[in-house]
Amino acid sequence: MTDALFMPLLFTRDVLDPIPELGARRDNEPVSVLELPFGIKAWLVTGYDAAKEVLGDATTFSNAFGNLGEADEQDPGGLGMTDPPYHTKLRRLLTPEFTMRRLLRLQSRIDAIVTEQLDAIESAGAPADLVHLFALPIPSLVICELLGVPYSDRDDFQALSTARFDLAGEASPLDTIGTSLDYLQTLVQRERARPGEGLLGMLIREHGDELSDRELAGIADGILTGGHETTASTLSLGVLALLQSPDYFAQLASADADAVHRAVEELLRYLTVVQVAFPRFARTDIEIGGVQIPAGQMVLVSLSAADRDAILAAEGHPVMDAFDPTRPAGSHLAFGYGIHRCVGAELARMELRAAFPALARRFPTLRLAVPTTDLTFRNSSIVYSVQTLPVAW
Ligand code: HEM
Repeated sequence: MTDALFMPLLFTRDVLDPIPELGARRDNEPVSVLELPFGIKAWLVTGYDAAKEVLGDATTFSNAFGNLGEADEQDPGGLGMTDPPYHTKLRRLLTPEFTMRRLLRLQSRIDAIVTEQLDAIESAGAPADLVHLFALPIPSLVICELLGVPYSDRDDFQALSTARFDLAGEASPLDTIGTSLDYLQTLVQRERARPGEGLLGMLIREHGDELSDRELAGIADGILTGGHETTASTLSLGVLALLQSPDYFAQLASADADAVHRAVEELLRYLTVVQVAFPRFARTDIEIGGVQIPAGQMVLVSLSAADRDAILAAEGHPVMDAFDPTRPAGSHLAFGYGIHRCVGAELARMELRAAFPALARRFPTLRLAVPTTDLTFRNSSIVYSVQTLPVAW
């Protein structure tokens, strides 16, 4: 029988919490069978240890796009759906662009972008929509800085990036991949003619001969789609979580670096906005968490279930389904694990650590302008998010 509930099970939440069925499945059967439509059988991994075993074993599990049976021209390129040795080559090229030393050059731009968006909220006046005035523009503008994308193109970018993750959207995800790659190839050609100071310009200067335009566009696409909506969702849902504890939100205004670090790590864990990792395919028969997975079958790792596994509980902080900003920062899987672990994790952290306290300083009395029940969530999206977040102060 088809597990018709697999979409709600993996993607639907009750406001910020995964539905209880997902937690129950993790607690009873950390590795379980998932019957997908068209008779496809897959495996669902919900336990934290089993999730790390799968994500940490790139020898047994393949991420290659080819496993999905789609035409090659639909391949978005980039890192997420590639295996070594090609993945290793791309990752080596990108890693130097994401070292703390290079990222710190963006810190003052991040601070300035956050301030500009706070000004935009203030001039819009209450009620203001934090998704469109704060959560979406901040990471979009930061990625434009990082890549060297002209500002005039960024609205199109934002629309494409959002559409890419919405499984129930009007355009199929694969169509939007095509449109976004076409745009990015044009950008790459412009950068080839006159390499700028951004990541694309640097890659072209240092490795231009080793990479085709299609490959460069794929790398840029991976960064854009990997870094935009994920950070935007963590920002908007993070504000929603923080506003559920208004006293704590107000304290963030004067919190020291340690407290901000703990709060951001807890938001990343509690929200785990990338609900499911890229599909993995077993190359050989393998046992995970005591369950036999036959060669060739697909494995879906539910990061949101794994990040609430009781195994992560610390002394004095037992309830993993609760948002507890004083919880000691632990090893959550919000950025994944293993060779595909998020390359932009430190950049995302820089944005989140800058944005939340700055928001609390500017609007210490911030509150939701509508009841939570009026909010619309994207319940069929790999990246969980809220459509709008009207606030007043
Ligand atoms: C809060 C924000 C973010 C979250 C929650 C997040 C989450 C993730 C996760 C879970 C993965 C691994 C998926 C898997 O193994 O299947 C990943 C990979 C990736 N992320 Fe992020 N990400 C964030 C921000 C960013 C940013 C800011 C960038 C770039 C500017 C970025 C670029 C990437 C790329 C390129 C990959 C693929 C890495 C590889 O396959 O080697 N992400 N991200």
